[in-house]
Amino acid sequence: MSRVDVTDPDALAAALTDRSFVADPYPLLARLRTEAPIAWIEPWGCWLMTRGDDIETTVRDTRRFSSADRVTQVIERMPAWQERLFALHENFAVGMAQRDPPDHTRVRGLVSAAFTPRRVEALRPRIEELVDAAIERVLPTGRMELIDDLAHPLPATVIAELAGFPVEDRERFRDWTTRINAFFFASGVAVPEAGDSANAAIEEARAWIRPQLEARRAAPRDDLLSALATVEIDGERLTEAEVLSTAITLFLGGHDTTTGLIGNGMSALVRHPDQLTLLRERPELVAPAVEEMLRYDAPFQMNLRYVTEEVELRGRTLHRGDLVRQALGSANRDPERHPDPDAFRIDRPASRHLAFGLGPHFCLGAALARLQAQVAVERLIQRLPGLRLDPDADPTPDLRGDVTNRVLRSLRLAFDPPAA
Ligand code: HEM
Repeated sequence: MSRVDVTDPDALAAALTDRSFVADPYPLLARLRTEAPIAWIEPWGCWLMTRGDDIETTVRDTRRFSSADRVTQVIERMPAWQERLFALHENFAVGMAQRDPPDHTRVRGLVSAAFTPRRVEALRPRIEELVDAAIERVLPTGRMELIDDLAHPLPATVIAELAGFPVEDRERFRDWTTRINAFFFASGVAVPEAGDSANAAIEEARAWIRPQLEARRAAPRDDLLSALATVEIDGERLTEAEVLSTAITLFLGGHDTTTGLIGNGMSALVRHPDQLTLLRERPELVAPAVEEMLRYDAPFQMNLRYVTEEVELRGRTLHRGDLVRQALGSANRDPERHPDPDAFRIDRPASRHLAFGLGPHFCLGAALARLQAQVAVERLIQRLPGLRLDPDADPTPDLRGDVTNRVLRSLRLAFDPPAA
């Protein structure tokens, strides 16, 4: 795409909805950071914020940049939402990601115990087993399609086991996640045509979860669904809608983003062979390498917030009721926070990337996502000599085409199989 005048709203809107933006959003985000750091995006019906420091400040400011109502506001802009999108609206009217403190703290406290670094670390042997099994399956062939062979099934299985969902149903919650994301995120704005499918996905997910909750109430097990089914806070049970929404949040938040991290991260690594060699030589760099993968190509690119009172920022006036997208992927490429931000370097000093957000809504599953990615990257590098992009595959990244969830559909890799 030719050089865009980012101060011209029509030209900017066209550029942001062009396929080239999905393929590589970073050049346009860099222009926005310097020329229009807070820009009104007409087709998205919201502000786009691109500077790291603005994003950090506003993510922490939950009073003026609220997480409550943001999703319901989007739904209420859809025609006939009461009839067509009721289940979707009810689901996103409650639940931890849609609350502000102090109410948010109550619901988050419920599930957070399962995600402490200690509880997560206890999952390491199981994660190693799953990664090794995925590698064993492809080892003799010298080829791997990373997404279907590992990056999707690994987090989907881990979250299902942790929550207590039947693992064999993981393709069903993949499908529901895809349909819900397609409505909210695909183009940066809710897509009315995708609304019915997303609403039906919520109804199907609820119908699938309800009997599982009833079974846990009758006979609790050591899983998150049991905790959700039976918990009382200050003598009060969560409402049915809150329990269902929180359970749905677990599979919505818990697998696709991690698929994005493992896929985008390995894609960056094989496209930077010097960094791949460095990691082979210095395996202790795996933790900073995963942080660099999160920074360099954030799997979740944009937070959404709702403005609760008039705010002046960089000469723009944001009004009560406006929606704001905080471009986390842009913050991670902001040269004021990360020197030489477009370079992929796994030995960067500890970076303050925003891939998991910040403040009260900081990603609950961050430790779990990090552990899965670290084990996957470490094992892939150790066990697959000569790892590279498959020379017979199209080298263009096969992205799903969604401006918020930056997730590869496929990543074909090749390696040297063991001698027969
Ligand atoms: C690489 C993988 C992941 C990325 C990039 C990611 C990203 C994020 C981000 C940016 C937020 C903040 C959203 C906001 O402030 O509006 C968030 C929140 C959240 N994430 Fe993750 N996430 C990942 C993995 C996971 C996993 C494995 C889980 C497991 C259950 C999870 C569960 C959640 C939940 C429940 C929230 C809402 C927390 C709250 O509102 O208090 N995420 N995530």
